[in-house]
Amino acid sequence: MASEPTSDLVAEVRDHYARAATLGARVADRCCGETTTASGCCEDTTASGCCGGSVDAGEGFGLGLYDLTARDALPQAAAATSLGCGVPTEVADLHPGEVVLDLGSGGGIDVLLSARRVGPTGWAYGLDMTLEMLELARRNAAEASVDNVTFIEGRIEDIPLEDATVDVIISNCVINLSLDKPAVMREMARVLRPGGRLGISDVVAADHLAPEQRAARGSHVGCIAGALSFTEYRALLAAAGFEAVEVVPTHAVAEDLFAAIVRARTPSRDGGGQSPAETSSP
Ligand SMILES: C[S@@+](CC[C@H](N)C(=O)[O-])C[C@H]1O[C@@H](n2cnc3c(N)ncnc32)[C@H](O)[C@@H]1O
Repeated sequence: MASEPTSDLVAEVRDHYARAATLGARVADRCCGETTTASGCCEDTTASGCCGGSVDAGEGFGLGLYDLTARDALPQAAAATSLGCGVPTEVADLHPGEVVLDLGSGGGIDVLLSARRVGPTGWAYGLDMTLEMLELARRNAAEASVDNVTFIEGRIEDIPLEDATVDVIISNCVINLSLDKPAVMREMARVLRPGGRLGISDVVAADHLAPEQRAARGSHVGCIAGALSFTEYRALLAAAGFEAVEVVPTHAVAEDLFAAIVRARTPSRDGGGQSPAETSSP
């Protein structure tokens, strides 16, 4: 198990996302709640609008990546704090009855969408280390009347769930923020059942980009500086025991940095592994 982090960078990540959670809740409360006033709406936030506004997640990130049907089904504050770089629920092909775990669940957008997909016989867990995000996510679940969800406090490097208890792990723009990515990969392999799968969106760097070049293109808390390269991502997943690893770019988020879809499986119980899928890197 990973030790408790003491790094300033971890504290910086937590503070950054605590502020985003507070802002997202304010966008919802002040702009769409009973306290709305014509003059004061959102003026002291960086939100992009009033009702329907959201925390400014940056170009290539956030709510705009979701289709309108998904957006309409969400509470305002969940939509307002969408800070991901993809739509992992589209990647993971969820089925009724499955147990899903969202690493770094933020305001809960992907947990709520997953809960609807897995239905009353399934369950969706959200894991996050930022208390303000957990509070917001629980409020959003209550507002959406979704009750097959649990939001857990913890770190993705030390997942507080038993071995082999999860069918699918999703995550949206979080693994790049970790300071111990090998631990995250090992923990994902541990909690997944045999034959379990990953459906992740994350920021990934072109293979030729050195770590200092990644850092020059954006901050760590902004999901750029900590990005793995395509080759590093595949190697860490393989080292943790994953099979059929795919890391496929979807859109650019900075020069030579991409939002990407990450898919992989744990070996099935009968040991009948699949051959690695075709992978692509820019
Ligand atoms: C970029 S936001 C993404 C939130 C959400 N997945 C989404 O799509 O809106 C990153 C989230 O991951 C959480 N986080 C970052 N590092 C973490 C870690 N090591 N363990 C647990 N949560 C973490 C932050 O608190 C924040 O809520």
